[in-house]
Amino acid sequence: MSSSEISTFTQEDGDGRIATNREPDWYKDAIFYEVYVRGFADGNADGIGDFIGLTEKLPYIKELGVNCIWLLPMYPSPLRDDGYDIADYYNIHPDMGTLGDFEEFLRQAHELDIRVVVDLVVNHTSSECEWFKAARQDPNSPYRDYYVWSDDPTRYSDARIIFLDTETSNWTFDPVAGQHYWHRFFSHQPDLNFENPKVHEELLKVADFWLEKGLDGFRVDAIPYLYEEEGTNCENLPKTHEFCKKLREHVDRKFPGTLLLAEANQWPEDVVEYFGKEGDEFHMCFNFPLMPRMFMSVRREDRKPVEDIILNLPKIPPNAQWCQFLRNHDELSLEMVTDEERDYMYTEYARDPRMKINLGIRRRLFPLMENNRRAIEILHSLLLTLPGSPILYYGDEIGMGDNIYLGDRNGVRTPMQWTGDRNAGFSRSDPSRLYCPVIADPVYGFQGVNVESASRHESSFLNWLKRLIRIRKRYIAFARGEVHFLHPANHRVITYLCIHGDEIMLVINNLSRFSQYVEIDMRDFAGYTPIDVFSSNPFPQIGELPYLVTCGPHGFYWFKLEKG
Ligand code: NOJ
Ligand code: CA
Repeated sequence: MSSSEISTFTQEDGDGRIATNREPDWYKDAIFYEVYVRGFADGNADGIGDFIGLTEKLPYIKELGVNCIWLLPMYPSPLRDDGYDIADYYNIHPDMGTLGDFEEFLRQAHELDIRVVVDLVVNHTSSECEWFKAARQDPNSPYRDYYVWSDDPTRYSDARIIFLDTETSNWTFDPVAGQHYWHRFFSHQPDLNFENPKVHEELLKVADFWLEKGLDGFRVDAIPYLYEEEGTNCENLPKTHEFCKKLREHVDRKFPGTLLLAEANQWPEDVVEYFGKEGDEFHMCFNFPLMPRMFMSVRREDRKPVEDIILNLPKIPPNAQWCQFLRNHDELSLEMVTDEERDYMYTEYARDPRMKINLGIRRRLFPLMENNRRAIEILHSLLLTLPGSPILYYGDEIGMGDNIYLGDRNGVRTPMQWTGDRNAGFSRSDPSRLYCPVIADPVYGFQGVNVESASRHESSFLNWLKRLIRIRKRYIAFARGEVHFLHPANHRVITYLCIHGDEIMLVINNLSRFSQYVEIDMRDFAGYTPIDVFSSNPFPQIGELPYLVTCGPHGFYWFKLEKG
């Protein structure tokens, strides 16, 4: 299907037949939406997004077809890493509202059958956290041992530096403490000391605090880096997995149904370890290895990068699920690719050096794809049909642009564009008060790119995506099925079956910007008829001969195979 065929795609209606959000493994059928509260909607006209604003926008999120929201950190913080530097784990950042506002948001989200997970940062705190302040000031404080101190800043020298553009060491000298402290990220984010059981207790207490409010789960940040050990790269250590099991056991016992989603940016064999061999660590892990390879496959017009990585992903436990994404609030991470692949990605997707940061590319989806609607559509066909639950990043559904002239990763965290009015309808404040300027360039500016106008136009990407999501939710095989690649000779087309019980879906994606045809060996399904799920049109019955399909530029088909 492509945008030009949109009229045939509007017939389906209703909520789909999967009873999502009621089952214990609801996350397997979920469509996630990542929200940056500061950037979403400003409810009190101070120029900063907040929970009152977000609550007002819940019907929009519901209509998109989303059934789980993931919130970036909303805790009090000096915001030197946009909230991933938590100063107080038990409250809401005053810019975003109060605990009461949060609770009301949660209540209304649940009323709409939307679940909510939030970021939980366990690896490190802000240097403004009271725990760290006490630790540095008094060597006898019980908090001293909450952090990792050393007189010798050459310890653990095999650990890589992650924020390469800012940091030169994983140790920083604190003149007050008279010692160096360990940090894997910014120097203002001291790592917690997981060797100290009190740290475990404290973090479980934090989890309880939020889960008692009815929260549905956590996206646990920076999980591979919890422990340090001399002679290792200090990532994925066995003790780190022990803590993950402890956290899982704790929430399973006290709050069954809670989702734990791991941010483990690792190679396939290491990332799958976070599901736990017995399915006893995280329910979900982001599919970091797949993400850059979807971009590679589309630019190279070759299915190999995507197919190879999926075929090489070890099997995951039955209760586990991958989390699929194209973009998020960070740079498009190129940590888990070879040097050659990274060079390719930089050449193709980051021509201006400003687009690069650390080992990645700080751009939003539409500018990355040069606003090529068809190429973006094919990426979404992959996103919604390859194994796992998809996450959308706020603003990408309307084709928002970025601002590479803002510092750090702020250029992909600009205010949501609701209307063509002042401040993009994001805030009623004086424009100079906004936490960050709105995108106003001639291509992606809010005057043209906004929810209001996208909603009005039947053929907008927003409306197209809503329908795609609705169809995806109707077929359980996309969410829970087994994927089997077919291998037609034409490598510009990626073709696979998603099978769940007797539901068999056939997906055909043309990665090329030109028309293609494929001959697919479908003998095992001789006698079946492919039904195009967007139009309900039957295609010719499958026989013993290769099944021939032609695809327009970046076109795709989702077929349901029906007997007879
Ligand atoms: C991963 C988060 O996604 C990123 O935004 C943050 O800077 C680092 N963790 C450090 O907390
Ligand atoms: Ca506000």
